[in-house]
Amino acid sequence: MSKLANHQQYQDQINKFLAKQLQKLTINDEKLLEAMRYGLLIGGKRMRPYLAYITGESLGASSTDIDAIAGALECVHAYSLLHDDLPAMDDDDLRRGKPTCHKAFDEATAILAGDALQTLAFDILASHEFSAEIQPKQIKLIQQLVSATGYQGMCGGQALDLSATGKTIDLAQLEKLHSLKTGALLQASVLMAAECASLVTLEEKYALQKYAQLVGLAYQVQDDIIDITSSEEELGKPKGSDIAANKSTYPALLGLQGAQDKAENLFQQALQALACLPYNTKPLADFATFIVKRSH
Ligand code: IPE
Ligand code: IPE
Ligand code: MG
Ligand code: MG
Ligand code: MG
Repeated sequence: MSKLANHQQYQDQINKFLAKQLQKLTINDEKLLEAMRYGLLIGGKRMRPYLAYITGESLGASSTDIDAIAGALECVHAYSLLHDDLPAMDDDDLRRGKPTCHKAFDEATAILAGDALQTLAFDILASHEFSAEIQPKQIKLIQQLVSATGYQGMCGGQALDLSATGKTIDLAQLEKLHSLKTGALLQASVLMAAECASLVTLEEKYALQKYAQLVGLAYQVQDDIIDITSSEEELGKPKGSDIAANKSTYPALLGLQGAQDKAENLFQQALQALACLPYNTKPLADFATFIVKRSH
């Protein structure tokens, strides 16, 4: 699998930041805090933080401003996985090579840990000491995360995913579903990081948005592909879970080769979107490569 520059360094940075956020919480219920720690700190590729850090780095944003963006995004992502694995949703038993949160604890605790991680995300954004020139944008950043997370974003996409389960939907509907359930948070990773760079023009933001939309969609297309092509050991989650659950996926609609062609096409378009940007966009291009080559 292609390697991402500074992946380990950014993983360490975000893991430290997230661990600190949990340490700051006063313990009300040991078990709930333990489940939050389990869902947030054990494993994960940290792709949304990574994307935020490399975007910030390319555009000249402060890395401590990006800590808050990356931390908030990863909290939302962790919450979405805790709920996604529940019996009422995908009903999966394995995540990041370990029993899913509701198996390691219980369903009620996994639901509450997800809820608490979601509110922690917004607390991080609201409480972080951003640089002086970014502070006036704090509400805007919170609004961006709201859109990416809620009814208009990930949560809405998860609802579309559930209602499409066991049904045949068309490509346009599948693209919308994927763009919301997974694309929205990846898009926010780029756009919220870009918001922390003062000199980015509207036109440049438009190109970044295009890149992020394409990469966000490609991320879920590849997730659908590796559900079939990778092993349980590689994935750290069950293989063939989508087929078993009769999910609407790209391979289900286009066949495996059709889905792989779609991922390649999105990748090429993402590279084109970067072409007009006057920054070092190599890390963003390498991220797009990583997405369509990854096996876990
Ligand atoms: C899995 O996300 C769920 C999707 C949105 C596709 P990741 O592949 O980023 O999972 P982790 O965080 O590395 O475990
Ligand atoms: C995940 O989609 C989307 C979110 C969790 C928001 P999947 O259901 O395909 O993710 P995995 O395959 O369980 O990680
Ligand atoms: Mg799901
Ligand atoms: Mg799932
Ligand atoms: Mg999946």
